[in-house]
Parts: sequence; structure tokens; C-alpha cells
Amino acid sequence: MSVAARAPSTTTSVAAEPALEGRNLTKYFSVKGGHGIFARRARLCAVEDFSIALSAGTVTGLVGESGSGKTTVARLLAKVIRPDLGELFIDGEPAPRGRPRFYTAQVQMVLQDPFSSLNPVYRVRHDLVRPLRIHHGATDIDAAVSDLLRRVALEPPERFANKFPHELSGGQRQRVAIARALAVRPRVLLADEPVSMLDVSVRLGLLNLLADLRDRDQLAILYVTHDIGSARYLADTIMVMYAGKLVESAPSATLTDSPAHPYTQLLLSAAPDPDRAEPPSLAGSGAPPSLISPPSGCRFHPRCPHAMEICRREVPPDVPISSGHVAACWLHVDPAQRRAGSNGGEAPPEDGAQHRPDPAGGPPDREHDPMSSTIHEEG
Ligand SMILES: Nc1ncnc2c1ncn2[C@@H]1O[C@H](COP(=O)(O)OP(=O)(O)O)[C@@H](O)[C@H]1O
Ligand code: SF4
Ligand SMILES: [Mg+2]
Repeated sequence: MSVAARAPSTTTSVAAEPALEGRNLTKYFSVKGGHGIFARRARLCAVEDFSIALSAGTVTGLVGESGSGKTTVARLLAKVIRPDLGELFIDGEPAPRGRPRFYTAQVQMVLQDPFSSLNPVYRVRHDLVRPLRIHHGATDIDAAVSDLLRRVALEPPERFANKFPHELSGGQRQRVAIARALAVRPRVLLADEPVSMLDVSVRLGLLNLLADLRDRDQLAILYVTHDIGSARYLADTIMVMYAGKLVESAPSATLTDSPAHPYTQLLLSAAPDPDRAEPPSLAGSGAPPSLISPPSGCRFHPRCPHAMEICRREVPPDVPISSGHVAACWLHVDPAQRRAGSNGGEAPPEDGAQHRPDPAGGPPDREHDPMSSTIHEEG
């Protein structure tokens, strides 16, 4: 999806604490490794040491290739699954144990597939009435259903309330799914690839609906997508994941105009571009690694055109690039500190080329940026 950036949220949120926060989340899955008689259980690390803060009135885009851990992050935040490490906080307070109604009423998920998320035997009204009754004991149910359908621009509401899912288009079904999530009056919406299964012609309308919910209702929204173009359009902040780890985050215009991490640059170069003749593809740039035995050091190093010796050995630190902009990449660490960090094992670059990659494709030249020499200690 190729769209220009939408104006960021106009309402400044003054909330003291993020509505929902995940700190240092790590999630392992037990999977079958190997084949035949050699098969045995292996541990796959889907998400490692991942922190995220969702604030009222903002959209946070979570971007990455398939398998990078985006859905796992959303499911951890929704408490559908439990983290092996890390904690969740609501308004700065530790989230309750388990998944009590109090929690699900505040944090709702919208799934990718609008075709399977609605029960085909029930009319739309039925899907909306249940959460209205359970969570808020609404008495004027018809008025509440109409209000919900209006909020997702399904008008006239009486007409849509009596339809079955098969009588709706994909975009209309996804609007019903969003209306159902809104029925419990959540403060946080976790939207996992909400437009990726929809016709291109209706995607923009859905993104605009999410933007309206952010601006009008001050929802804190997580927008999960593999499409960095749509994240730029909708999100205030973009976080980029690779192989279960956060590699870069920044205000969305900063991230897409001045990407600092080579993986973000790769994603952007593969994003749809109406001026490009060739179809976008990450093919030819290698594939994401195994999460059972990920590469040492920087997980992106087997695909990275700028990889250095230290990248193969040591996990890069989170380096502040500018205000609100952080990239986990050795390129942005001062060479002297890089050598210190690697026990003196790396030869200094002879021509500095590694630190001044092509401005069109590589990270910006940050030789004179005082931030570039700051190594942020991983907590
Ligand atoms: N329930 C599960 N059991 C085993 N592996 C899983 C499970 N859920 C996700 N994974 C694995 O975790 C990794 C991340 O998956 P996911 O979070 O769905 O990525 P994304 O949403 O970015 O495509 C993948 O390798 C996936 O196969
Ligand atoms: S740390 Fe090294 S391998 Fe990883 S993205 Fe940066 S330059 Fe490439
Ligand atoms: Mg997913």
C-alpha cells in the first residue's frame, strides 16, 4: 500500500503514564525441531527483551516481515499468552494476574481475518449485543448497537444490524469486528494486520477509521503490519522488529525519511512505490533466520550489506540517533567505543566507508552528531 503520510494525531496527549506498557517481554515456544526419528522438542524465541508503550491518542506501528514476532507481541499485550520474562503495566501499575474481565474490557484485539472472526450463523446485532450486556449491562441495547455501527461508519445502522456476515464485504466485516471490540469501551486497541486481507480499495477507509478512533476517542492503538507504507500513513511512532527483536523505533516520519538501521532501509526499499517499475520484494536479500538457533551477535548480520566483524560476535546496543529515535546497530556506535565493546577485536575502518554509507541507501553520516558516540546500556 503506497500512501502519503497522514497528519499525525492533532490532540496532544497529556496522560502521565502510557495506557498499556510491556517491559522486557520475552516469549519462547516449544516446537518440534528436526525430522523423522531425529525430531525432538526445541525452544523457539519468538520475542526477546521487547519493550513497548502505548499512549492514549496515539497509534504505534509495529512493522516487520512475516515471522518477526509482531503477532506474539500483540498477543502478549492482550494477555492471550503469558510472557516467559517481562511485565505488563496499565497506567503505570502492574497489570493484574491472569486475564480478568477488567483487563479485557480495557485491552481489545482486532484480528487479521474478518472472514473467520464473525460467526456466520448470527446477525451483526447478535455479535454486538453480547459484549454490551456482559461488560456494561447496557439497557437500551438497540440504541447502543446503532451507536456502535455509526462509530464505524456502517450506516444506516438498522440495515447493517440485521445482516449476516456473508451479506457484508470484507471491509464491512472488519468494521463490525472493530465495532465489537469497541462495545466494551476499551482504551487500548491491538489491531493485528487489520487491513492486509482486504481489497486494496477499502484499506484506506479502514486506516482512516482507526485514525478517527485515535483522535476522537483517544484510543491507544497498536497497528501491526508488514507494510511500512501504511504504518507511515497511520502511525505516530513506528517500531521495527527483526527476528523477535526491536531493531529501530522513531516518530514515523523520522523513521521513514531517515532510517538508521539497515533492515529498516531494506524494508523501505521493498515497499510499494508507484514510480518503480519492478514489483517490490525482499527476495534476493536473504531470508529471516531460524528463531531456534538465531545468528550470533546482530541477528541481521547474514543479510546486512554493512556487516562488520563485531556484528557477528556481539549483540548491538540500542543507540540513540535523535530525539525519540533509537537503532540497535553497531554502525552508529563510535568506532573507539566499538573497539572497546568488542575487547579490541575489530580493526578500525581504513576509509570510513562503513560509517558513511551511501546516503541514498545506507544510514546517515553521523560523524559530527554527538549522540552517535553515546552507547545506551541495555537494561
Ligand atoms: N503458538 C505458537 N507455537 C509455536 N511457534 C509459534 C507460535 N506462535 C508463533 N510462533 C512462532 O513465533 C515466530 C513469530 O511468530 P509471529 O509472532 O506470528 O510473527 P509475525 O506476526 O511477525 O508474522 C514464528 O517463528 C512463529 O512460527
Ligand atoms: S549491527 Fe552490523 S549487521 Fe547489524 S544491522 Fe548494524 S551493521 Fe548490519
Ligand atoms: Mg502476524
